[in-house]
Amino acid sequence: MSNANISNGPISNGDSQQGLKLDFLGDLRRTHHCGALRASDEGSRALLMGWVHRRRDLGGLIFLHLRDIQGITQVVFRAEMDSEIHARAEQIRGEFVVAVEGHVEKRSAETINPNLPTGEVELVADKVWILNESKPAPFPMEDDLSVGEEVRLKHRYIDLRRHRMQANIRMRSAVSYAVRQSLYQQGFQEIETPFMTRSTPEGARDFVIPSRLTPGSFYALPQSPQIFKQLLMVGGYERYFQIVRCFRDEDLRADRQPEFTQIDLEMSFVQQSDVFAVIESMLSKAFAAAGVDLAPPFPRITYRQAMDSYGIDKPDTRIPPFHRVEALFDGTPISGNGLPMVAILIPKVGQVSRKERDELKAFGQEKKLRVFDDPKRLERDFPEQMAQVRTLTGATEDDLLLLANWAAEPDEHLPEREVLKACGQLRLFAAQKYADRHKLLDPKQFHFLWVVDFPMFEWDPEEHRWVAAHHPFTSVHDEDLDLLTTDPANCRAKSYDIVLNGVELGSGSIRIHRADVQQKVFAALGFTAEDAQHRFGFLLEGLSYGAPPHGGIALGLDRMVMILAGESSIRDVIAFPKTARGTDLMCEAPSDVPDRLLRDLGIMHTRR
Ligand code: AMO
Repeated sequence: MSNANISNGPISNGDSQQGLKLDFLGDLRRTHHCGALRASDEGSRALLMGWVHRRRDLGGLIFLHLRDIQGITQVVFRAEMDSEIHARAEQIRGEFVVAVEGHVEKRSAETINPNLPTGEVELVADKVWILNESKPAPFPMEDDLSVGEEVRLKHRYIDLRRHRMQANIRMRSAVSYAVRQSLYQQGFQEIETPFMTRSTPEGARDFVIPSRLTPGSFYALPQSPQIFKQLLMVGGYERYFQIVRCFRDEDLRADRQPEFTQIDLEMSFVQQSDVFAVIESMLSKAFAAAGVDLAPPFPRITYRQAMDSYGIDKPDTRIPPFHRVEALFDGTPISGNGLPMVAILIPKVGQVSRKERDELKAFGQEKKLRVFDDPKRLERDFPEQMAQVRTLTGATEDDLLLLANWAAEPDEHLPEREVLKACGQLRLFAAQKYADRHKLLDPKQFHFLWVVDFPMFEWDPEEHRWVAAHHPFTSVHDEDLDLLTTDPANCRAKSYDIVLNGVELGSGSIRIHRADVQQKVFAALGFTAEDAQHRFGFLLEGLSYGAPPHGGIALGLDRMVMILAGESSIRDVIAFPKTARGTDLMCEAPSDVPDRLLRDLGIMHTRR
């Protein structure tokens, strides 16, 4: 680049709120992003624009770290160059928006900043434009902030400027793009489904919108596009997808938001394995976009195996499964009366203190488990059994080996599953306790797993009836069809989850494509014929016009990016999330609405 000036000098735009003269942008154009300049640009002229990340005024020298979406460049104003410009630079404060023009100089060896890609150079400024001022930011633009999340959410537009948030949001964009590309390449069409619709049963409460034109009636925001995507299959589209917002009024947690995004898809004339192949290929592309190589096909286990080996239907396979050992201890004083007994192994934990052992025991007790935390003692009392436990688990001296079984009196109504669940919780508790040692739960390892053959129904003790474990449109295994009415507890569904590092990333199923079977399932779920007709008449009607066999899945995009970014809350990968109480602190939603609007909607006014 030549040494000629890039621009004319600043043109002032009048006094700002803080009494500062601001400059017009005019026809200024930046020549480089703030992450671009390198030693090879020495001597070139450059014009940068951005926010003042940091400022150091050493009197004769003023240093700015200028930041934009692509990085940070150090800018220096030297008093000896031009006193007018220097005076202008003195007015600049943190988070001001400025343009600077100057020439690139190499920094001396001792002032090189190895933490910045641009750290070998600085821009020696000879022109400056103050394009906007900024009130002092409510928190610094650092990655590791100590301020509360509420302050961040109230000023989200500032929080979004932080490098960590920008990296997350940009990763989300790259992942969405890769997902779209992959699905288009695999022959999917992207089709929008309505937001103003009728309730869809995904197990949560609906958010509803009152209708002005039909007073007393409500639309529901979709909990998922489930019914519409099935009707698209009836409509003959064969491969549908959508990256779509879903709305659920449910209790929130770190991995749940009232509005969240699904990668939702549906396919006709397919088996479960076809859906898996599409998703494995899509995930490989999506993770590659975030710099992670995956190696599909992912392992598959049945729901039954997951419960038997991990005590949970979304196992974190970064740590080994537990082993059922009740048969080994049968007839000994520590047998659990036929209920499960498990051996839990947490690898390479090393020395475990008395206090830590007590904590493990106390956690077990909370879950009604008896925890045997001293393998040496067990080995003395039950040498043969323990030799087999060691062979089964492969435990070495360095590993933590725990045995656990049910502590309370066995109750004939206690399902075996509850005992296994408690053991699964103990396994996770122990793993999380030692997670820091040897990177047991390394966030940079991505362990995918398909869990298949979920039960079709779950017993709802509050409602005293069977409810759909996935949703009522899931088909049952062909050979289990009779069990629908004779033995619902053992009726298996053609449903599957994809699990990543112990998080349920997505769920799907092969659907019921026949109206008569769908009606049977509604009946097994306790819907009367009128009920079913009232809620799902349009689906039943649709299925009766030649619906093809079909199946699909939906993955939580927010959860996926959260795990990829190594964050522990999905709020950190959503630009404008809600708090755990479902509020938007920045725009203060939900909010009151004018009385007139309520009158138009025919809604009684009940102001708090
Ligand atoms: P499901 O209800 O299991 O299935 O949802 C699919 C995936 O969506 C994500 N998810 C959420 N993410 C953030 N906040 C929430 N509140 C939330 N709820 C769900 C999870 C979950 O695995 N229609 C079916 C899919 C199908 O059968 O095709 C459905 O919605 O990652």
